[in-house]
Formats: sequence, C-alpha cells, structure tokens
Amino acid sequence: MGSDRSSPTIPSITRRKVRRGDPALVMLTAYDVASARLADRAGIDMLLVGDSLGMVVQGRADTLRVSVDDVAYHCRCVTAAAPAALVVADMPWLSYHVSVEDAVRNAGRLVRDGGAAAVKLEGGKKRAAVVRALLDAEIPVMGHVGLTPQSLHVMGGFKVQGRDALGADEIFEDALAIQEAGAFGIVLEGVPESLGARITDALDIPTIGIGAGPRCDGQVLVWHDVLGISDAPTPRFIRRYEELGARIEEALRHFADDVRGGSFPTAAESYHAPAAPLPAASRRG
Ligand code: KIV
Repeated sequence: MGSDRSSPTIPSITRRKVRRGDPALVMLTAYDVASARLADRAGIDMLLVGDSLGMVVQGRADTLRVSVDDVAYHCRCVTAAAPAALVVADMPWLSYHVSVEDAVRNAGRLVRDGGAAAVKLEGGKKRAAVVRALLDAEIPVMGHVGLTPQSLHVMGGFKVQGRDALGADEIFEDALAIQEAGAFGIVLEGVPESLGARITDALDIPTIGIGAGPRCDGQVLVWHDVLGISDAPTPRFIRRYEELGARIEEALRHFADDVRGGSFPTAAESYHAPAAPLPAASRRG
C-alpha cells in the first residue's frame, strides 16, 4: 500500500460523514489484481467489484447478464492483491430478488469465495428485508438507490431519477429504509445534486455519489471511465483523469511497428547460448 492511511473497516466507514469534519470517502471499481494494486497504492478507500464489469469487461450493453460466478471470480482477482482498501462485491441482478435464503447464499459466496468484506445491492424499501437477513448472517451491506442500472427496463433507460418532487421523495424514503435496515453506507446514483444533499444531510451513514453532486460523503467512479479507457460517450458526471486508451493504443502500434520492421527484439533482448566448442577436426596443433 502506497499511502499511510489505516485500513478502512466497516465500523470506521459507517461513521464517516463530511459534516462531522471527516475526509470524503473515495471508492473506485476494480476487476483484477493490477487495478486493485494500483488503486490501493493510490490510497483509494474502497474497491467495488461492480456488476459494471458486464459492460466494461464483458462488453455488454447493460449489467443484466452478470452472474454470481462472474462477480466471485473478479472478486478473487481483486482480493489477490491483498488491498488495504475495503473490498465490496456487487450482488448481480436476480441474485437477491428470488428469496431471502437465496440472497444470503449468494452474498455468502462473494464473501467466502471472493474474499469481499461486504456486498452492495440495489433498491430501497422493498430490499430492506434482504438487507436485514444479510446482516443476520454477518454480511455487511451497502445500499444503492436512485438510478439503479439493474432496473434499466423499468426506468426506460439509464435516466436521472428523482427530478420531480414525488420521485425525489420516493428515493429519499428508500435511502432512509436502507439505513434503517442496517446498511453501512449507500450509493446515490444519477440524482439531482439537491436530492444528493438532502439525503446526505438526513442520513447518519455515508452517502457515496455517482452523478449525485458534490455534497455526498464520498464519490465512486468506474476504473475505465477515470482512466479514459472506454470508448463510450462520457456522461457529465464522469471526470476522465487520463486518456490511457489513446496512450495504450499508441504504445501497441509502436510494438507492432517494431516487430514488423525487425527492430524488436535486439541482441540485448535475446538469450544467448554459451559459445559451442569447435569440432576436433578443425582445431590447430
Ligand atoms: O457496478 C458498478 O460499478 C456500480 C457503481 C457504478 C456504483 O454499481
């Protein structure tokens, strides 16, 4: 780990509120050991093995085909880095909707096989019973309300939620219900900044925003977006800190040119056998 911060724990994160003078929480998605190591060295507080992997790793148009096996696999890749950051695993669509027992079993796999410290699930009031059951099984839960990508078809697309008073009140109530059920934190996605601020002020647990304005107790972004690796259009809530996609492409073009032009590998980049002894017949004397 490159920073001197102490390792975040569920209790230490539950208490983190900017209004109490705490520093904002920083969360980033990670899907493999290299990204987990780099993010951890950069001092990121929480690594989310998001079901966004369906889009940025698997190349799908949405997150709906991601399985518990997929998240468990990527979780193992992330926890192989032994990060100091807290690892949160996303529960994929249908892994917590069928029954509470099913939800506990699936979340347990992400903790036991994947090595996650906590799980995240989408939805408000109607998911409160699942949150309570997971806590009964000693599995910490992070909530996620507002634009919930697993409700893509119900929402009619990836659209900002809670723009009108009724919708905003509903999301507010959902956030309260998830806190009440015992979640240690909550992601607010795709809501007006006024609603992000209202929920953040009302809750005692930290809010982690993505497209929810600057007043949240923390922010989360997707690895590929932050680093400029994805080709997808950049929505306004994303800040690209690098254009690594273009730089990687340039480096790979250079590699291909060197191989085709014969300048790679050089003698210094090759192994050499020890000089073979000359055959007896050609020796003098
Ligand atoms: O799946 C994911 O990466 C997420 C974040 C964008 C919050 O849920």
